[in-house]
Amino acid sequence: MSSSSVRIAPSILSADFARLGEEVRALEKAGADLVHFDVMDNHYVPNLTIGPMVCQAIRPHVQIPIDVHLMVEPVDAIIPMFAKAGANFITFHPEASAHIDRSLSLIREHGCKAGLVLNPATPLSCLEYVMDKLDMILLMSVNPGFGGQKFIPSTLPKLKAVRQLIDAHKQAGGQDIWLEVDGGANLSNIAEIVQAGADTVVAGSAVFGAPDADGGYSGIINQLKTKASAL
Ligand code: DX5
Ligand code: ZN
Repeated sequence: MSSSSVRIAPSILSADFARLGEEVRALEKAGADLVHFDVMDNHYVPNLTIGPMVCQAIRPHVQIPIDVHLMVEPVDAIIPMFAKAGANFITFHPEASAHIDRSLSLIREHGCKAGLVLNPATPLSCLEYVMDKLDMILLMSVNPGFGGQKFIPSTLPKLKAVRQLIDAHKQAGGQDIWLEVDGGANLSNIAEIVQAGADTVVAGSAVFGAPDADGGYSGIINQLKTKASAL
């Protein structure tokens, strides 16, 4: 994908939770492509965040897809709940499901796009037999659990390797698979991230930490897109 069409997925983990409806409307107005929705269960990861009721509450506020990133274990029971709450993408960590193939099918059966999330140290081998069931591969560039962490550089060669897998899959007649990166993305590293093969970039603290004077987010989202196309 050309870097000029990179998708920006602001993570509402860094939003003002007391004004979430307003915050997601501001993101859409500013040109965000997806709302990244981080679900943490105080079990798979130490933090505890938001669930299907919050997804349902923000759903009427935006048209753009809601990209639900499950950091919960196990995953199967909560998948239908998020589908019902208006999620468009549902991704989960392979370590958190005893039956990865079944969980991926479950997501699609409920009308959502399905994806796997690989932690920085998770090998690519878990993708091998499920490529046809994936609409998205999400590479973590930090260890999951918290916003505002530093980008782990070994993600860059890993992105390149996954880009090759996706391109080879498509060349062999396979479906399109989005390649998203999550954690520590900002104005200084987005160009490298996109050059390494990402077509979708999550940004939490980078977006919500740099609001426009009127509280909107057009400035930072435009800058991220411009930097992404700089190389
Ligand atoms: C981390 C979350 C990320 C995080 C990104 O577990 O999955 O989505 O909120 O935040 P930043 O961009 O601040 O690293
Ligand atoms: Zn996330």
